[in-house]
Amino acid sequence: MENMTLSALDFDQFKLLIRDDLHVTLVITCKKGGVGKTTLALNLAVALTALGFKVALIDVDPQGGISVSLDMLDDRGFAIEGIYDLLMKDYTLEQVTFAAPRDEYEAVLRQPGGELWVLPGGNKTQRAAVAINEDGGDFDLLSRLTAPLRNRVHFTIWDTAPSNALWEAGILSAADYVLIPTELTRLSLDGVAKTIHQMQNLQKLHNARLLGILPTITNLNTLGQQERLAELYVKYPGRIWEYVSIPESQVWKDASEAARSIFSYKSPSNPVAKRNAENAMWAVAHHLLTQISVKEFSNGQ
Ligand SMILES: Nc1ncnc2c1ncn2[C@@H]1O[C@H](COP(=O)(O)OP(=O)(O)O)[C@@H](O)[C@H]1O
Ligand SMILES: [Mg+2]
Repeated sequence: MENMTLSALDFDQFKLLIRDDLHVTLVITCKKGGVGKTTLALNLAVALTALGFKVALIDVDPQGGISVSLDMLDDRGFAIEGIYDLLMKDYTLEQVTFAAPRDEYEAVLRQPGGELWVLPGGNKTQRAAVAINEDGGDFDLLSRLTAPLRNRVHFTIWDTAPSNALWEAGILSAADYVLIPTELTRLSLDGVAKTIHQMQNLQKLHNARLLGILPTITNLNTLGQQERLAELYVKYPGRIWEYVSIPESQVWKDASEAARSIFSYKSPSNPVAKRNAENAMWAVAHHLLTQISVKEFSNGQ
């Protein structure tokens, strides 16, 4: 059997979702670094594209993790400054969105995928944020300028920075759904609380919706992590994606070092670990699509 978990999960049901009127904006955020935001954004985007969806991945973290992870760098080896060019140099959206190599996702399920577009960012993203702030603080500018992507793709996935990039309120406001990855540590849970607090402040005006809180880089053999998980249950009942939490595994770091998604990462030193990691990401994708189906279909469309 090529892929046990994948074959056990029914993705056929989601083919119904691949339709022209599906436009979901998903923001992946947590006010804590190193919790697996970029890993989640990238691999979820690849999984959805492999399933046939059209996906745009927008990187507003000045660390430029997406560019580095997909090896989409400029001539000098730096992350392409798409966000800066769009905001500060009047580049068009078309000029700053790049098609990810098809082999990144078509080989995954050995079937034609959708499309994967990347709007990369790097160091200069922060400079653009500061300039916009000094210029009167039009924090919705980035959301407005990227809004036309919604007509081209089924999913727009935002990878964000943990610290307060100045326009993050604008991004959260434009989100249909927010997914918060977190490690099961005190510091990370503190980041979750801060993220939700900010969302609640915005919710008075907008309707960013908390889709879920995903435990990442988990090791549930430790008592400390079990306690943190229990704490999450109590604080955010019904929001925790505990059944699809992503266990800690070295293979995620290896794939990231090789500038690949977990799916296209070749020759892992531990193929079983790779397969487990892939399956963990498929489970997340399945859960995401289930949640979105329920919400989109119950919207009466
Ligand atoms: N499940 C995991 N197990 C082990 N390491 C992981 C896992 N997920 C991500 N990592 C690693 O942890 C580090 C931080 O992940 P990253 O996605 O960059 O976090 P963030 O975007 O939140 O800062 C990276 O080196 C990444 O490869
Ligand atoms: Mg990141």
